[in-house]
Amino acid sequence: MSDAPRVDWDALRSAARAVVQAAYAPYSHVNVGAAALVDDGRIVRGCNVENASYGLTLCAECGLVSDLAATGGGRIVALSVVASDGRYLAPCGRCRQLLYEFGGPDALVDTGDGSEPTTVGALLPGAFGPVDLITRADP
Ligand code: THU
Repeated sequence: MSDAPRVDWDALRSAARAVVQAAYAPYSHVNVGAAALVDDGRIVRGCNVENASYGLTLCAECGLVSDLAATGGGRIVALSVVASDGRYLAPCGRCRQLLYEFGGPDALVDTGDGSEPTTVGALLPGAFGPVDLITRADP
């Protein structure tokens, strides 16, 4: 039996669609919102924040993991990432690594209305993670 809270996908998608309104994306014009259910039942959120330097752009998932840490930590159970059309946006490679750190391979990722969620493990197979630091560091 899992202690993880039941996932209300509609609530997660709504939270992601709400926070996308706060995105700052004057360069790409791709506004992104992310919302995640935490294992204690709360919802954390983030939006992308771009920068004139381009390379310093913060993805929505970056804001989300900062919100996670700032509001008490915990593990990501399920996640929805959307663009301003309200539809699923694929997390980029860096963000898959962020999600692996705070959700692990079993965290669920919404792929849109009507289809089954995928997992962080499926999005980032063979991931390098915290365990590798413990098992592979020289003594
Ligand atoms: N973006 C995200 O916020 N999350 C992702 O996982 C993919 C890309 C943002 C970054 C940038 O502001 C815009 O989408 C276009 O790349």
